[in-house]
Amino acid sequence: MGSVSEELSLVPLHRRPELLEACAELLGEEWGKSRASRLHRLQRSSDAFPACLLLLRSQGPAEAPAAREGPCQLVGHVRLSRVVGRPRDLFVESVVVARALRGQGYGRRLMEATERWARARGFGCLRLTTHDKQHFYAHLGFVLGEPVQSVAFLSPAVPAEVLRLFSAPLGAATAAAARPRVPAIPPPPAAPPPPPPPPVIWARGVLADGVGQSLLETPHRDAKGLPIFWMKKDI
Ligand SMILES: CC(C)(COP(=O)(O)OP(=O)(O)OC[C@H]1O[C@@H](n2cnc3c(N)ncnc32)[C@H](O)[C@@H]1OP(=O)(O)O)[C@@H](O)C(=O)NCCC(=O)NCCS
Repeated sequence: MGSVSEELSLVPLHRRPELLEACAELLGEEWGKSRASRLHRLQRSSDAFPACLLLLRSQGPAEAPAAREGPCQLVGHVRLSRVVGRPRDLFVESVVVARALRGQGYGRRLMEATERWARARGFGCLRLTTHDKQHFYAHLGFVLGEPVQSVAFLSPAVPAEVLRLFSAPLGAATAAAARPRVPAIPPPPAAPPPPPPPPVIWARGVLADGVGQSLLETPHRDAKGLPIFWMKKDI
């Protein structure tokens, strides 16, 4: 009998809508939540981000790759979103490999394929957060990074000017937003200085004060107050 080889491919979910249910099940197996909200998030996948990418496996005789046309198996999933003020960056979320296939190198191949996918589209850096998989990501070349704000959903109806603000460096975006669009009105009389600003709250974490970062300890907390590691990788 001939040997069997496998082929892996990374495919956007919106190109394989028939895999929507299987993908919702894969994510549900790990993170629960309501099936309806999972499906809703997955259905938003688009080339304009967020994009849900699926790692698919097809198997067949090694000597006849063209025969690998049978049904393919869903191996893993990642979701990629744009990052506010960092046009070269993508934010990676919901990284998961099917339970039965873990520990066999698919997580590495999922992340490496994601890097290639992002690089081929002109992106230069992947960012993510994790509660407890920092050693896995460090093993794959990620280092600790600073908090950023991901863009959960960009509607096609969002005006181009707003999109440009998202892609401009933060300072430029703020300056552009602050630029007056109507004839200037004389400023009101000087007011007392405002109170000191509250702690910086990011989309996915709260910056705590004065604690160092390491793979064992993080100063950052998520919205529920749980420790969270911010990581990044230049690709
Ligand atoms: C995290 C996850 C994606 C890893 O996938 P996997 O297929 O089990 O990982 P792999 O077998 O490809 O491991 C790749 C490498 O990382 C190492 N590794 C895996 N898990 C690790 C961990 N927790 N800590 C350190 N190293 C780890 C492996 O030893 C392997 O090293 P090698 O390539 O040098 O042999 C998978 O366990 C998973 O889906 N977990 C549940 C969901 C989850 O927690 N996602 C992360 C959210 S931030």
